[in-house]
Amino acid sequence: MAIERLVEPTLAENNSEEEKIEISLRPVSFAEYIGQEHLKNNLKLAIDAVKKRNDGSTLDHILLYGPPGLGKTTMAGVIAHELGASLRVTSGPAIERAGDLASILTNLKDGDVLFIDEIHRLRRAVEEVLYSAMEDYKLDIVIGKGPAARSVRLDLPHFTVIGATTRTGSLAGPLRDRFGIIHRLEYYKEPEIEQIIKRTAGILGTKVQPEACTLLATRSRLTPRIANRLFKRVRDYADVNGDGIVDKVVAEKALELMEIDYLGLDPADRNMLRLMNENYGDRPVGLTTIAALTGDETTTIEDFYEPYLLQLGLLARTPKGRVITEKGRKHLRNS
Ligand SMILES: Nc1ncnc2c1ncn2[C@@H]1O[C@H](COP(=O)(O)OP(=O)(O)OP(=O)(O)O)[C@@H](O)[C@H]1O
Ligand SMILES: [Mg+2]
Repeated sequence: MAIERLVEPTLAENNSEEEKIEISLRPVSFAEYIGQEHLKNNLKLAIDAVKKRNDGSTLDHILLYGPPGLGKTTMAGVIAHELGASLRVTSGPAIERAGDLASILTNLKDGDVLFIDEIHRLRRAVEEVLYSAMEDYKLDIVIGKGPAARSVRLDLPHFTVIGATTRTGSLAGPLRDRFGIIHRLEYYKEPEIEQIIKRTAGILGTKVQPEACTLLATRSRLTPRIANRLFKRVRDYADVNGDGIVDKVVAEKALELMEIDYLGLDPADRNMLRLMNENYGDRPVGLTTIAALTGDETTTIEDFYEPYLLQLGLLARTPKGRVITEKGRKHLRNS
């Protein structure tokens, strides 16, 4: 397994300190949620319509997808807040049996929002129960065993599912079709990341100079979670080596210490690009081969390294595999 990466867009497991801070930084309303304007406008319209109708109808099921750390979980909370609904949180791997899902569903109330993280990892048997629950608010359960077994159909409350996934490709077609609103979260623009860093600094009570914000925004992989994480590290650096104020010099020094380059790449990204370049040059290479070269899981490469490198155009995807671009080679020469 690879070394712990500072720019890892996932939340570190068993890191309750980070989780606590992340929760405190989580926007709760549309007004606080920076960026993703297109998504926000669509959702606002849908939510306003439900509120205006006020006839007991519920919001369409929503599927949010996109790279980690862009704000899918946060948005689920915002939607529930804006609806005035309660939010129930679970995840694909956490629902082991159809019975687990049944007990979650029967405990919901009308209008509740059920957030299912990593929905692409739902087990097939669970997924099938979810289909009719999402479509007709019915639950088909089998009572008893063998010849005495009989099937019972229960009515469920009218709820809204918000599914989140880093990959829509792995989602079964029939499940995808149950969502009325399907939306991809985009990488943020640098000014938006700057705003997020300013907001974080405000919440944490740290003084930060605008030039430092701008600099950090260029290194944050256009991802709020990484922006927040870098900011916290830079703030530590300022506390230890200075007067606690985050200015440009402090930010530069801290980034250098973390070996994060001007594009936001860390040593692991550069290592992967270098290995691809040295072993394959401009020829495409398969995902499993890249994984063998770097010693990572293929899913790690697909979910964490690749999306941002593709976004920057340092890497390209071809039918025959991934290939490092001229831009990618140039970046290696310059770093
Ligand atoms: N639009 C935003 N404005 C301000 N902060 C944000 C925004 N989106 C995300 N964040 C911050 O980034 C952190 C990570 O966001 P979140 O956990 O919602 O990402 P995610 O897409 O669910 O990631 P994963 O795929 O790993 O579950 C949040 O705690 C929040 O502080
Ligand atoms: Mg999440």
